Amino acid sequence: MEIVYLNGEFLPQEKATVSVNDRGFLFSDGIYEVTPAYRGRFFLLDRHRERLLKGMCELRIDADLAPLAEVHDELLRQNGLAEEPVSIVYLQITRGVAPRTHAFPPTPVAPTVYAFAKAFHRPTPERWQEGFRAVTVPDRRWARVDIKTVSLLGNVLAQQAAVDAGVDDAILVRDGVALEGAHSNLFAVLGDALVTHPLSNVILPGITRGYILQLAREMGIPTEERPVQVEELRRADEAFFTGTTTEVKPCVAIDGEPVGEGRPGPITARLSEAFIERTDRHASQVTAAAGD
Ligand SMILES: Cc1ncc(COP(=O)(O)O)c(C=O)c1O
Repeated sequence: MEIVYLNGEFLPQEKATVSVNDRGFLFSDGIYEVTPAYRGRFFLLDRHRERLLKGMCELRIDADLAPLAEVHDELLRQNGLAEEPVSIVYLQITRGVAPRTHAFPPTPVAPTVYAFAKAFHRPTPERWQEGFRAVTVPDRRWARVDIKTVSLLGNVLAQQAAVDAGVDDAILVRDGVALEGAHSNLFAVLGDALVTHPLSNVILPGITRGYILQLAREMGIPTEERPVQVEELRRADEAFFTGTTTEVKPCVAIDGEPVGEGRPGPITARLSEAFIERTDRHASQVTAAAGD
């Protein structure tokens, strides 16, 4: 039985219900966060929390985040995921329940806070080696995609375009620039450099993106944060996606044409290995700490 968290309570998922007047349901007036845990230990939780807080400030949603870490731990525990190799907690906070009018409720209402946990299964090494294919799709999202809102229709339609095309992912393109995936950030290896779009209102500031840039710098791989034209991307030596439920995922074909040699490249492989090694190390630190 899946146990979820809703407004201060842990309860079976079937018993968790939200009002039809919830502004998340009526207006997508809310925000979310997805945090990974490796063997029950949350990875980069502070960075996820900071992004959540920033988004709440932007949307002027006020919720108490003090119990956040405890709720995350408890969800893993109650769902038998405390020893799971990789799991995630999804947390969503909407403005709350109020009669439908566009502006915020004149008297503030309690936000709706919902969270669930689930196991995340990495692709097998064989599947990873095969690589993942993508199509380019015009970016039809709003102009503040740096806020992680639950308003994801543009992302949903982009990912569906990938499914319709029989491939794995979509690359969102605006004004000729390849911005990011439908649910991930995008990197390209161009010459010596690892390149990704700079932080701005047109991409999500992915936590994994930031961590991979940090790892690359530590490993002596030159990095550049600049827009990449889609035509330039097509000539890249390598490309890959990053995200919490993506980790490092090689993109080996775009619009039916191979990227580089049409298989995961060496920089992608090195970064993926380094990332997994860090998460393994993070997971084993917990075990050591727990044994103290
Ligand atoms: C549009 C978009 N870009 C990037 C990401 C990656 O962000 P993170 O690494 O924080 O999971 C996501 C994750 O959901 C996303 O939806």
